[in-house]
Amino acid sequence: MLGLSGKVAIVTGCASGIGAATVRRLCADGAAVLGTDLDAARGAALCDEVGARFAVQDVSDRALWPRIVAQAVAAFGRLDILVNNAGMVSGAGIEDHDDAAMFAAWDKVLAVNLSGTMAGCRAAIAAMRDNPGGPKGAIVNIASTTAITPLPTDVGYSASKAAVRALSKSVATWCAQAGLAIRCNTVIPGATHTGILEATEQQMPGFLTMVAKTSPLNRLADPSETAAAIAFLASDECPFMTGADMLVDGGALAIHPGF
Ligand SMILES: NC(=O)c1ccc[n+]([C@@H]2O[C@H](COP(=O)([O-])OP(=O)(O)OC[C@H]3O[C@@H](n4cnc5c(N)ncnc54)[C@H](O)[C@@H]3O)[C@@H](O)[C@H]2O)c1
Repeated sequence: MLGLSGKVAIVTGCASGIGAATVRRLCADGAAVLGTDLDAARGAALCDEVGARFAVQDVSDRALWPRIVAQAVAAFGRLDILVNNAGMVSGAGIEDHDDAAMFAAWDKVLAVNLSGTMAGCRAAIAAMRDNPGGPKGAIVNIASTTAITPLPTDVGYSASKAAVRALSKSVATWCAQAGLAIRCNTVIPGATHTGILEATEQQMPGFLTMVAKTSPLNRLADPSETAAAIAFLASDECPFMTGADMLVDGGALAIHPGF
């Protein structure tokens, strides 16, 4: 396990999937955690179970971000870790829908996946600058293999996740050049067995089996496997890692197409 005792973390999208697994993992490693989610019932239940605090948050609500960060600092005295995990799909390709529906879906997915992540980074850095003992922190943003091999069926999701990668690198290099010991890295999950994929399976039976085959391991990731990579990047085990991408895709992007 990673020694995270004394560290304070915020994890967004904590009610389900990778976010829930990350709250479990960070708590097990000794961190004090504030989990947030739109889903108050499931988020609060998960946090109660593992001894974390919970707050309702829509990550796309910019004005709320400084208050969420202030809540963590008020409760635990500092902020060391932010995991920008909350995310959604839009399920629309470039020619789907009429203009009104298409741009509504595009605006929404970018507001949550990209602008929510940017607002989180900005609010977290402001708090991490003021940490007792000096500026220090680790931000982990969650992208997707669709940032690298985009989905024709979801232009907004793919574009938002590609932008999250660039956002992480910009934040990482800003902090480094400003002399702040605040690292920012991206975890790039492949197909992981969570609510997002279950919802697609309901609409397209056989989808889970199909996406499992994208990995040469021929299976989906368990969310705990993704959480392990997030916890590593959030810990002090990798002080020279910033602006990096960590693939957790079961080798999906490592294999030549067709093999
Ligand atoms: N599951 C996969 O195969 C996979 C692959 C690549 C990337 N990801 C990414 O991992 C992250 C977690 O996804 P997951 O698979 O665990 O999905 P999930 O649907 O199981 O969990 C997502 C959580 O985010 C919350 N959420 C959604 N919109 C929100 C908002 N506006 N504000 C606050 N919370 C919100 C949901 O309520 C939910 O609890 C997402 O960013 C997703 O894009 C997932």
